[in-house]
Amino acid sequence: MYENQSKYNYPDLSNKQVVIAGGTGAVGEGIVRAYLRSGAKVIVLTRSSGSGEKLKKLLVDEKNLSSLSIVIGDYSSFHGAMSLAQEIVSEHGKITDVITSIGSWWQGKTLWNVSQEEWDEYFVSYSTAQLAMVRAWIPKLPKTGTFQIVTGGSGVTPVPHSGIVSMEQSALLMMANVLEKETQENRRIFSYIFGYINTRDRAIKKPEWVSSEDVGYIASLASANESLGSGQHKLFNQSYFKEKVAEFTDSK
Ligand SMILES: NC(=O)c1ccc[n+]([C@@H]2O[C@H](COP(=O)([O-])OP(=O)(O)OC[C@H]3O[C@@H](n4cnc5c(N)ncnc54)[C@H](OP(=O)(O)O)[C@@H]3O)[C@@H](O)[C@H]2O)c1
Repeated sequence: MYENQSKYNYPDLSNKQVVIAGGTGAVGEGIVRAYLRSGAKVIVLTRSSGSGEKLKKLLVDEKNLSSLSIVIGDYSSFHGAMSLAQEIVSEHGKITDVITSIGSWWQGKTLWNVSQEEWDEYFVSYSTAQLAMVRAWIPKLPKTGTFQIVTGGSGVTPVPHSGIVSMEQSALLMMANVLEKETQENRRIFSYIFGYINTRDRAIKKPEWVSSEDVGYIASLASANESLGSGQHKLFNQSYFKEKVAEFTDSK
């Protein structure tokens, strides 16, 4: 399903080394591909060796595959993420960019019917993993580096029967806003609000939706264009995507 590598004019990121949490996921795959195609060194974090193996098989057609490292470990707790970050920096050196595409969709219950287990998984564990990544990586990033967070439209539009996902995505957007204020001009924080995304997991795909490759392309442009400052970006469909590509490339 992945387009020919020449579909986009990928930036040259051969001077970048990126960490991608959630890179094994359906959206994450497109992000990993984009950075490989841009010539970056790519480190994917995953909590399971099985997911890492599956990703490697999916990526066999990528030319720059030797630049991919898969690091297995628990990046979803404060302690786990910090230890992994220290190990990665001592083994691979300076990391320039971190992208998080963590979490999955959930639906089926009103808020007053949500179980403790569902809350712990879809709100607590996802948001804890995101903050764990912030704690572990923000202090280690260079001023020109990026911390990029992938979220969905449910964070700004309430979705009945998916309330805990809406709440968690909304919390992430606020986390990004706070980070932007706290880091001021000293880091580049990007948060993205996507609509439906055409991924490997979707039975129905629509041309007006962005694809996981588009997600990766936007992220790679943000890494490349160091004159872009922190910001929150709506990417609900292809027309938003095209405008954003122009904005991220024009302001160089
Ligand atoms: N799919 C869409 O149409 C769509 C649309 C808009 C926005 N989004 C956003 O894109 C992001 C990723 O979605 P996706 O469709 O790619 O989901 P996915 O295929 O289920 O992948 C989610 C990734 O998150 C990681 N993960 C899962 N549970 C976790 C936990 N408790 N703690 C830490 N990491 C965990 C997994 O990595 P490991 O298991 O390998 O560690 C996995 O790679 C989400 O934030 C979602 O809201 C998706």
